[in-house]
Amino acid sequence: MSISIHVENLSKIYNERGEQSTVALDHVSFEISGSDIICIVGPVGCGKTTLLRILSGLDNKFEGIAEISNSNPNKDQIRTMVFQERALFYWMTALENVAFGLKCKGISKHERLAKASQLLETVGLTDKIRAYPDELSGGQKQRVALARAFAIEPDIICLDEPFGSQDYHTRCELQMWLLEMWNRRPNLTIFATHDLEEAVFLGRRVIVMKDKGHILQIEDLGHLVDRTQAFRSTPEFYDVKKHLWELLETETIICAKPDNNMSLS
Ligand SMILES: Nc1ncnc2c1ncn2[C@@H]1O[C@H](COP(=O)(O)OP(=O)(O)OP(=O)(O)O)[C@@H](O)[C@H]1O
Ligand SMILES: [Mg+2]
Repeated sequence: MSISIHVENLSKIYNERGEQSTVALDHVSFEISGSDIICIVGPVGCGKTTLLRILSGLDNKFEGIAEISNSNPNKDQIRTMVFQERALFYWMTALENVAFGLKCKGISKHERLAKASQLLETVGLTDKIRAYPDELSGGQKQRVALARAFAIEPDIICLDEPFGSQDYHTRCELQMWLLEMWNRRPNLTIFATHDLEEAVFLGRRVIVMKDKGHILQIEDLGHLVDRTQAFRSTPEFYDVKKHLWELLETETIICAKPDNNMSLS
């Protein structure tokens, strides 16, 4: 199934009628097609989470167009989101959390528990399947949330800095895990991160975003096919990372110029 995203003049204002209204997205437009891993990088508060919430269908209060369409209009899209702040059902064990979406899909108890347990194993939590969220560390909770999102085999998955709370080694392992999941069943994966290395490693395309969701550039990295650990130490990897860094750095410097927004007097 081929998927495309069409975003046109998308604007989102929080507390529009209140005193403290915030323009989170201001007339954002872009077009992307294909079942790819798309990474979004950009500074704190630039609108990444807001955009993901809209694309995942969780927020429908916006102006403009934000459409995700597929080549088979008769087939419903399954969309899901993994949140920045880890949202698990606290009264369910890790296993029950992961199996929950499968229950909603009508899959038998035996089958869903087997699948949930196998997914938890792939994220290194075999010994925690009976644990409740309160008994898990932040990083472990996030891995349960990831397994739960992938269990339902979504067509579109929005991941909001999902590996942010992991140590470097675990993060690298989870990136490989994500690639493996994607290779097994390619879907449209939209992945927000602050980590440029992560974006270069995972992204087939990288959306570089600045304030209010304005798109600085969409980098096509489809030609960098070797997503093994060795890829991280290649010149191509460093070149792309440097390029993204420079794009974002230039933007930050321009924003900080006294004659732009700030007064030093
Ligand atoms: N529920 C809300 N009510 C009011 N303002 C909000 C709300 N959610 C986000 N904002 C504001 O909208 C802007 C964009 O926020 P958003 O969370 O989308 O940014 P972000 O790029 O995900 O940031 P971060 O990198 O810190 O996760 C920010 O200025 C933020 O303060
Ligand atoms: Mg965010």
